Amino acid sequence: MVEGKTAVVTGAGSGIGQAVALRLAANGANVVVADIDAQKADETRAIIEEHGGSASAVETDVADEAAVAEMIAGALDRYGGLDIAVNNAGIVGELAPIHESSTENWHRVLGINLHGVYYCMKYELRPMLEAGSGSIVNIASMSGLVGTENVAQYVAAKHGVVGLTKTAALEYATSGVRVNAVCPAMVHTPLIDSYAQGNEDVLNVYRAMQPMQRMGTPEEIANLVAWLASDESTFMTGAAVNIDGGQMSR
Ligand SMILES: NC(=O)c1ccc[n+]([C@@H]2O[C@H](COP(=O)([O-])OP(=O)(O)OC[C@H]3O[C@@H](n4cnc5c(N)ncnc54)[C@H](O)[C@@H]3O)[C@@H](O)[C@H]2O)c1
Repeated sequence: MVEGKTAVVTGAGSGIGQAVALRLAANGANVVVADIDAQKADETRAIIEEHGGSASAVETDVADEAAVAEMIAGALDRYGGLDIAVNNAGIVGELAPIHESSTENWHRVLGINLHGVYYCMKYELRPMLEAGSGSIVNIASMSGLVGTENVAQYVAAKHGVVGLTKTAALEYATSGVRVNAVCPAMVHTPLIDSYAQGNEDVLNVYRAMQPMQRMGTPEEIANLVAWLASDESTFMTGAAVNIDGGQMSR
């Protein structure tokens, strides 16, 4: 389904991005593992190669348009095309109500989570349109669909990602290029661990907040992303798919 295709995954050095990169590689794709942390990107590349997959690692800050352009140019040089792009890199930022939040934090999170996705889409779409095919999957969040207290910067950015996804779906509906978003609730990744600071009681509070009484796993998100990236989902574009253990049903 993705055998022999080329995929770029941003933020692929950790968590959901890493699981997506491993899954796409296991399914036979050549994966460009992009991350702002070169060492983490290289670790993911090494895991893929240890399992017999094909990958290359590239240090990329998605908030930097020139770096994004270079990442895509590098993928095209190396593999001759781009079939799949998973725009996953993201941060949450500081926790504070809006009136106490810092403007610097606002700009930093919007720069990575929203402007970064826009830059990635802009440079990913061009070769895909030229080829007449492609699948872009943006990692939004449940916070792209509803509000979440104390992370306005994150909620605004993720709502923006959902809006970008829907607009791109319309702009390219007849082009062969599909654009979808996934909206996870809490997924147990290093991002969540950084907020819990290794405290199992805090993790248990996070688990208890979920209808299933557990967080999602990166692999569960990767399953959905791999399906959206593949030709098994060819009638889907512009979707913002909840993957949330029932959370959005409340
Ligand atoms: N974990 C969750 O509960 C959850 C829920 C919903 C959505 N998400 C979204 O999923 C995505 C991945 O989250 P995660 O939990 O795997 O996080 P994570 O912190 O485990 O991994 C994020 C990766 O992105 C990289 N990164 C950060 N800034 C970057 C930049 N400017 N350019 C390139 N790479 C950068 C980091 O180095 C890291 O490797 C994010 O967009 C996040 O908002 C996560």
